[in-house]
Amino acid sequence: MKNLILVGFMGSGKTAAGKLAAARLGMKFVDMDEIIERRHNETVSHIFETKGEAFFRQQERALVRELAAEKDRVIATGGGIVLDANNLRDFGRTGVVICCWVDAGVAHERTKHAKHRPLLEADGDRRAQVEKLLRDRELLYKAIPLRIDTSAMTVEHQADEIVRVYKQQTGL
Ligand code: S3P
Repeated sequence: MKNLILVGFMGSGKTAAGKLAAARLGMKFVDMDEIIERRHNETVSHIFETKGEAFFRQQERALVRELAAEKDRVIATGGGIVLDANNLRDFGRTGVVICCWVDAGVAHERTKHAKHRPLLEADGDRRAQVEKLLRDRELLYKAIPLRIDTSAMTVEHQADEIVRVYKQQTGL
């Protein structure tokens, strides 16, 4: 089966709904941040802190190339995957890329207690940080043709939608 790639901002439910969708489709679930953390034996926050964001983006880029060559995977990407157009191009060649959209207010609600999101850990107004980052990336997310607005969805509903779109695209 073709890979199913979930793209979207932090708090868009890529991991939670992705796991459910993978179980329903009988596919293997993988989370890119988790793979990078395992390989480096450190958290994404720590990688950002000690090696910098550019280094993390290189690791992400290399992993995209690796995963795009696989099949039968539901892949939860990190929110910044859209920053390099090559990532979406590679994933799109071998899989179905679905954007999980989320409004800033909901993204903030879902991520406000998280400790593992280095881009939202600066001092100051966290809600404003979410709004700014999402505004900066909005066009990149909205350029993805297959898109689900998850803002008012439960995880179960989101997983149903993901499965529905994937089946429609692959003729399953
Ligand atoms: C990032 C999102 C994070 C993680 C890193 C950078 C981003 O993943 O890759 O903190 O640039 O939006 P999640 O979207 O899974 O939180």
